[in-house]
Amino acid sequence: MSQLIPIKEFAERRRRLMEHMAPDSITIVPAAPERTRNRDVLHPFRQDSDFQYLTGFGEPDAVLVLIPGREHGESVLFCKERNPEKERWDGFLVGPDGAIEQYGFDDAFPIADIDDILPGMIEGRSRLYYPLGKDHAFDAQVMDWVKVIRSKVRSGAQPPGEFVALEHMLHDLRLYKSVNEIKVMEKAGEISAEAHCRAMKRARKGGFEYNLEAELIHTFMDHGARSTAYPSIVGSGANGCILHYIENSAPLKDGDLVLIDAGCELECYASDITRTFPVSGKFSPEQRALYEVVLAAQYAAIEAVHPDNHWNKPHEAALKVLVQGLIELGLLTGTVEQAIEEEAYKPFFMHRTGHWLGMDVHDVGDYKIGDAWRQLEPGMVLTVEPGLYIAPDNTTVDEKWRGIGIRIEDDVVVTREGCRVLSRAVPKAVDDIEALMAS
Ligand code: GLY
Ligand code: MN
Ligand code: MN
Repeated sequence: MSQLIPIKEFAERRRRLMEHMAPDSITIVPAAPERTRNRDVLHPFRQDSDFQYLTGFGEPDAVLVLIPGREHGESVLFCKERNPEKERWDGFLVGPDGAIEQYGFDDAFPIADIDDILPGMIEGRSRLYYPLGKDHAFDAQVMDWVKVIRSKVRSGAQPPGEFVALEHMLHDLRLYKSVNEIKVMEKAGEISAEAHCRAMKRARKGGFEYNLEAELIHTFMDHGARSTAYPSIVGSGANGCILHYIENSAPLKDGDLVLIDAGCELECYASDITRTFPVSGKFSPEQRALYEVVLAAQYAAIEAVHPDNHWNKPHEAALKVLVQGLIELGLLTGTVEQAIEEEAYKPFFMHRTGHWLGMDVHDVGDYKIGDAWRQLEPGMVLTVEPGLYIAPDNTTVDEKWRGIGIRIEDDVVVTREGCRVLSRAVPKAVDDIEALMAS
């Protein structure tokens, strides 16, 4: 059960979703399935984000059903029955009674009975919302329930005529974080910041990238964040130029930078921080010159995170500073406008400046409304993560730049006045990083 988000907030989310549903409709949301790792060993269970958002219920083999106006309760959970013998082996189960008492559902049934009960709940509802197309097995299951109703049309049964993807409606709700959600994300940011500081202090030649990964995992776990939000990236030297490098097995060498992109997941909320620092504790002149460009771009982008701006403004702000810096350092020629127009920067900066952040690291929510970039609004959380990557085999640039990869990434919540950086507790100015590493 969620420790940081009160149980009544989940009921409130279900109520808000039902307000958006058409009259005479029904919503069905399944829990995540368990997945085999090897033979009889399972991967650690992670609840489906949509299901978690609406229930706070952490078990697999469960289905949420929302039926606005249903006399015996609008918010219904199917879940595993309690079973003392099974629980002795596999741990505590909440059970249908517990789901009502502890989780605030209006009604609950054993998951083993769903095929008998759910078609009767769907019958007579004209529209059915569910995560259409997300999971083949669930798509087939929904159609099986509908077929039961179709087989009874001659007795007057009315199957639904419209099947609608739930995502759009639900994901728009998820995009705006509540005060409690922001508290969880701020806490996740603090834990991840501490982890990055610990990894920076551990870095030295003779160590390996995985030694730094170990420091990250130690700190996450030590604070009760039992999982990373995504596989940690610890790339030293030219590995820092591989955007999704997760091998993390190379030796750390004096003179190299290390790029760490890592964040914990706390109560199903992600943090996502990147810092880049020198193994030796001291930046070389070339590393420092490029680093200062990325840092200035990141500050410019954070400055642009403001409700007066649309989604793309921070990216535009970062891009200008990056391109200006590349021209000043002789890595690009021509004017800033030209280089942006012709995308001449792409060999050095090939990703966007950020993404929504929430229960998923690349969180849900539209970036455009129609053809227009979405306006930033208080409660939205995003990352700001410009970078520069000079490929080791890029012979168009002076050798001294090659193999340097730098990214600086923070998590930022939009506020009424502008924004607040949730991951601020890990240093990013050159002097502050060098001071921390020397301490
Ligand atoms: N760590 C994934 C990302 O920064 O988008
Ligand atoms: Mn990241
Ligand atoms: Mn990111």
